[in-house]
Amino acid sequence: MSELIREVKTAVIRRRGFHTHIRGLGLDENGRALFVGDGLVGQVKAREAAGVVVKMIKEGKMAGRGVLFVGPTGSGKTALAIAIAKELGEDTPFVDIDASELYSAEVKKTEVLAQALRKAIGVRIREMRTVYEGYVKDIKIRRVKHPYNPYVFIPREASITLATTDDQVTLNVGQSVVEQLIEKNVRRGDVIWIDSETGMVNIIGRTEVEGARKYDIDVYKKIEIPKGPVKKQKEIVRTFTLYDLDLNFALRKASIFSIFGFEIEREIDPELRKQVDEMVKKLVEEGRAELIPGVLFIDDVHMLDIEMFSFLSRAMESEMAPIIIMATNRGITKIRGTDQDSPHGMPLDLLDRVLIIPTYPYNRDEIREILKIRASEEDIQLDEKALEELVDIGEKTSLRHAVQLMEPARIIAKTKGREKVSVEDVREAAQLFMDVKHSVEHVKKYEELFLR
Ligand SMILES: Nc1ncnc2c1ncn2[C@@H]1O[C@H](COP(=O)(O)OP(=O)(O)OP(=O)(O)O)[C@@H](O)[C@H]1O
Ligand SMILES: [Mg+2]
Repeated sequence: MSELIREVKTAVIRRRGFHTHIRGLGLDENGRALFVGDGLVGQVKAREAAGVVVKMIKEGKMAGRGVLFVGPTGSGKTALAIAIAKELGEDTPFVDIDASELYSAEVKKTEVLAQALRKAIGVRIREMRTVYEGYVKDIKIRRVKHPYNPYVFIPREASITLATTDDQVTLNVGQSVVEQLIEKNVRRGDVIWIDSETGMVNIIGRTEVEGARKYDIDVYKKIEIPKGPVKKQKEIVRTFTLYDLDLNFALRKASIFSIFGFEIEREIDPELRKQVDEMVKKLVEEGRAELIPGVLFIDDVHMLDIEMFSFLSRAMESEMAPIIIMATNRGITKIRGTDQDSPHGMPLDLLDRVLIIPTYPYNRDEIREILKIRASEEDIQLDEKALEELVDIGEKTSLRHAVQLMEPARIIAKTKGREKVSVEDVREAAQLFMDVKHSVEHVKKYEELFLR
């Protein structure tokens, strides 16, 4: 496996801004929702349903199926999807897109969807590799004059002595390894392993041998001096997404056909994806890899058009499909690209395959709790009346609007020399900024004037 492939680290969560307070679903050990838990408030049934979905995902019972959150705007659909991601943890790939993002001018819309689907599937690959592992007892890097510029010296080769409590090996290594040693800043006392074939260098920790560096804050943990032989077999586990593997295949192909650099193709050939799938399937059959189906979250799913919906349905049927979580605030509406009305603007065959979780508008108590949590998250102090005013606004317009007014209200208070936001500041902010319902009415009124 080449080093060009990136590793999957954590669930990437965009649109964090409004949802930073959410840490999970806030369920107890019996799967019951606490009124307030993990930053979530109320919406008890939907949270418990989401908890069941998380269990199904973890037990592998959701592959190729979907979930659809349905409810009015500001009722926490996006918040719940993010809470699911948090519950699944960092090992499960979670990809988050907004259906409207798929209409990019540069790339075919089904291609963006295909890439998102591929990013949502992880492959954990196990390999036995022959490595040299030990602590760095000595390292000498030899530099030579640059071939064109004699004033510049470049590292060319190194001799590095790796030791364990029982063994010691001195290796002479060439330029590509030297570059990694320099880039990773490998020093005496570091415990590293070097892959005997690819030359890949990995730091795993530090020992406190003589001459080792000491830092007050260190990203590497202190470890014991390794035991046994320096040259040995080591099982290495790495996680990639199918998309990473696609890119890697594409790059390798490209490098065969062009000598002077190459451009990554914007669109990945479906044939190539098939080859990647075949390779992965073979690895899984041989017990050298396992699939980790992740989650693709498609927000505002009614924005997909019929072509993308059919693509999605087909993808869900394939063996390597992620779990699809969708959200919409639309009732009966036209499926984009057709004249056909359908529930949530989605084709019926797709609706047949999803579990639908409804979300309901919040009552005053819930709105108040959510606003309190957001206020503390954004470090905004509200006096009691200001909070009640925001609750009123949340009830009359939308929770989203009330959440969004908090920061302007804080700034207004600040210009008046106050840290605490008062009811006047909230009212002033509410006069300056409109909620969506009123902004639509606003332009409509003027449109009518213009048309006369
Ligand atoms: N139950 C909840 N507990 C805590 N915070 C919540 C809850 N529900 C929603 N929020 C917060 O309220 C705001 C609005 O909710 P969210 O964006 O999830 O609504 P939505 O249903 O996705 O709306 P839309 O249909 O407009 O996309 C966000 O900041 C969200 O984090
Ligand atoms: Mg939303």
